[in-house]
Amino acid sequence: MTDFATLYRNRFGFEAPDLDGIPADLSALAPLLARGSQRRFRDEPVSEGLLAALLACAQSAPTKSNLQQYSIVVLSDPETRKRFLERIVPQVRWAATAPLLLVFLGDVRRGRRIAAHRGYEHRNDNVDTFMNAAVDAALAMQCFIAAAEAVGLGCCPLSVVRNHLDALADLLALPPGVFPIAGLAAGWPEGAAEVSLRLPPEIVVHRDRYDDGGLEAAVESYDDRVFAARPIPPEKQRHVDRYGVAERGVWSENVARQLSLPERPEFRDWLRRQELNLK
Ligand SMILES: Cc1cc2nc3c(=O)[nH]c(=O)nc-3n(C[C@H](O)[C@H](O)[C@H](O)COP(=O)(O)O)c2cc1C
Repeated sequence: MTDFATLYRNRFGFEAPDLDGIPADLSALAPLLARGSQRRFRDEPVSEGLLAALLACAQSAPTKSNLQQYSIVVLSDPETRKRFLERIVPQVRWAATAPLLLVFLGDVRRGRRIAAHRGYEHRNDNVDTFMNAAVDAALAMQCFIAAAEAVGLGCCPLSVVRNHLDALADLLALPPGVFPIAGLAAGWPEGAAEVSLRLPPEIVVHRDRYDDGGLEAAVESYDDRVFAARPIPPEKQRHVDRYGVAERGVWSENVARQLSLPERPEFRDWLRRQELNLK
C-alpha cells in the first residue's frame, strides 16, 4: 500500500509536515486520500444486492436531529434513464456508460406530512430547514460515494441535474417540498480516477479563529502546482466565448471566471413554485 507521505504529496503537491499518530495501517484512509471522481465506466452491472448495501450506507449518514429530510431516486427503468440522459443531462455523454444513476433530493415534504399526520402545524418553511435538508442529502450522497469507492466502484456527482428543473421535476414526479441537490453516476471504473490537487490546508483549515491573511499568496502557489501538474486545457476553461482562452490555465482564473456569471439564477423562483417559500 502507498505510504502516507506519497498520498499527501499526490493530494497537495508538497511534502507532508512531520505528523505524529498517523496509523501504520492506512487501509481506511488511503482510499479517501487517493480518491477522484470517475467519469468512465466498464460495461458491467452493479447487483441489486450491492446497490441495497450502498443505499443502507447512505442512510447511515448523520442527519440533523435525525429528521432525515432527504430522499434518493434510483433510476432503474430503461425508459426513465433514457429520458434523464437525453433531457436532463444531454451534455454529459459519459453518464450513459454509468450502470447506476441516482438523484439525491432535499425533502421538506416528509416532515410536513408527518406534522400533519400527528396533528401539528409545520412552522419551519424557512432557510434553516432548506439548509438542513440540503446538508442531509449531501451527507447521504457522500456516504454512498465513500461506500461505493470502498468496494471498488467509481462515482461522480452531477449538479447539472439542476439545469432543467421543471423537466427533472416532471420526470421524477417531484412533489412540492422536494428539491434536487445533485445526481450521482456510479459504476465499475474504466481506468483509474485522477487525483486532483487541493488547496493547501493552511488556507482551508483555521486554528481557533478564522484567518485568511495569506490567501492570495497561497492561491498563487497552488495555481503554480496545478499548472505544473495538469494545466487546465482550453476546452475545460470557463466562459472562453466571453473571456478568451487564458494564457495560463490555472485554478483561480477558472474559479473567478465561473463565479463572474450567475449560475442557475432561476433556482430561487423554482423553489418558490415548488412550495419552498423560504422565510
Ligand atoms: C455537489 C457536486 C456537484 C458536482 N457536479 C458535477 C457535474 O455536474 N459534472 C461533473 O463532471 N462533475 C461534477 N462534480 C464533480 C466535481 O467536478 C469534482 O468533485 C471536483 O472537480 C474535484 O475533483 P475530484 O472529485 O476528482 O477530486 C460535482 C461535485 C459535487 C460535490
